Amino acid sequence: MSRHLVTSALPYINGIKHLGNLVGSLLPADVYARLLRACGEEVLFICGTDEHGTPAEIAAHEAGTDVATYCAAMHERQAEVYRRLGIAFDHFGRTSSAQNRTLTQHFYRALDALGLVVEGEVRQFYSEADRRFLPDRYVVGTCPHCGYEVARGDQCERCSAVLDPQDLLLPRSALSGATDLEARPTRHLFFEVDKVSEEVERWIGAHCGQWSRLVSSTAHKWLREGLKPRCITRDLKWGVDVPRPGFEGKVFYVWFDAPVGYIGATREWSDLDPAGRDYRTWWFAAADVEYVQFMAKDNLPFHTIFFPAMILGAREPWTLPARIKGFHWLNYYRDKFSTSRRRGVFLDQALDLYPADYWRYALLSIAPESADAEFTWETFAAIVNKDLVGIIGNFVQRVLALSIRGFGPAVPSGGRPGAAEDRLAADARQTLKAYASEIRRLEFRGAIRALRQLWSLGNLYLDRRAPWALLHQDRQEAALVLRTAINLIRVFATASSPIIPFSAQRVLEALGVQGDDPALFRGEADLGRIGPGHPVSVPPLLFQRIPAEAIGLLRQAYGGTEADGCPADG
Ligand code: 2FM
Ligand code: ZN
Repeated sequence: MSRHLVTSALPYINGIKHLGNLVGSLLPADVYARLLRACGEEVLFICGTDEHGTPAEIAAHEAGTDVATYCAAMHERQAEVYRRLGIAFDHFGRTSSAQNRTLTQHFYRALDALGLVVEGEVRQFYSEADRRFLPDRYVVGTCPHCGYEVARGDQCERCSAVLDPQDLLLPRSALSGATDLEARPTRHLFFEVDKVSEEVERWIGAHCGQWSRLVSSTAHKWLREGLKPRCITRDLKWGVDVPRPGFEGKVFYVWFDAPVGYIGATREWSDLDPAGRDYRTWWFAAADVEYVQFMAKDNLPFHTIFFPAMILGAREPWTLPARIKGFHWLNYYRDKFSTSRRRGVFLDQALDLYPADYWRYALLSIAPESADAEFTWETFAAIVNKDLVGIIGNFVQRVLALSIRGFGPAVPSGGRPGAAEDRLAADARQTLKAYASEIRRLEFRGAIRALRQLWSLGNLYLDRRAPWALLHQDRQEAALVLRTAINLIRVFATASSPIIPFSAQRVLEALGVQGDDPALFRGEADLGRIGPGHPVSVPPLLFQRIPAEAIGLLRQAYGGTEADGCPADG
């Protein structure tokens, strides 16, 4: 049996992330890790903040603090938000750690020793006013493709075109606004990715059969265009320093040290581990590890090409991903989430509005798996009201209240399971298997569909058996039906725990049982596990209806009104 290494793309440090970041990597990775743990398998789920590069420096500059202080504070804030969302990392590290510095420099030295790093001269904007070179996002100007006037030097936020600062029309410094920019020569290091293209191509060929079309086509597009040497250093102060004479005062490009951050964060984990487990058992010559990565589509080139090229180029047995799950974009009312235009919902705001499980369930229901998807308050409310309130919440409350009213606060005894119970068990078995297999296949919308189908079996059974009527006609049968339904609640809660862990826990507490039951995810739905006489209670209301009036207010507050160009019906 393999051990499972799971990573979610490392969120940039430059602010609290929005709903799209959650559904496009952190949340599905968490659900996958939780399912495997629930199945009793060995899992290591690693993530961390991506702290280097110009985004971090600029955010710190805007916040009026030095970058190290900014990153330390924002790391804590992000970690806290993910804790509240129930993202159960084994470790949430930082790319600015000493461990990551050592490992990044190790990769550089290994590639350099094999002749894959060369020096070259490039011309870059220098600002007299700022007395420094201005890489990437330090330059803003007009996008040559769409005319957006505040396009960043690395990418246009409006049309997504990948840019070089020199492409911008009317370039100016993002720091001071100075326009007297001069292109001056500066020396940088280049990783000759082209020299490992055969290895990369072979590796992609051996694995892409397991990847979705999005992931595979992104990798092949880059291969077709031909791999080129890539600049891996920057004229910045904040970052991993370059251990090479003549490169004092320069740092590695953020995308050189960020993916190494997966290993660095694991090394942080092992350095903190009281049992002293070694990060290398996961990362180095670890043949029994199955590594799965989660990310949004803009990260795919770095994970299907550049990071594998670093590992293959270094000729060391670091763990490469077997599977890569890529997501399309989640938009907010047909348009992008935008910090600057105040469109959309940030994760701390989201949690102040509704509990984590509402977000986890609703976002996975609309996960942008095969195409871009759209978040609207209308859809969110409909999913919460229909599935969480209407199906599972209602079933749990109805069964426990009825049973306690009819038989007191303990599982009722009496009756013998018959054909209806056998059929229920068979349906539950089949649905549970489908559900677990969807998560293992990394198909999250399919998993939600299967979970909803599982929950619906409860209401179907109740409708068929009508225990409220049996209470007056045949108390033995009523006891059997309610006992079976209470057992079904345990099955539902245990099965749901990877998706809605907080609510699942509250239900299990009301039932006075533990959630561990690895066999359940193989389809073994034991409907007699909680026996007669076991004390039970009704949990506090699990989910609350979102009223129609709330939707208009939410659209006003977070964008998505007609004034923003969104239709009234969403
Ligand atoms: O796109 C992003 O948010 C990047 N910070 C992802 C980095 S993933 C990994 F390579 F670090
Ligand atoms: Zn543009």
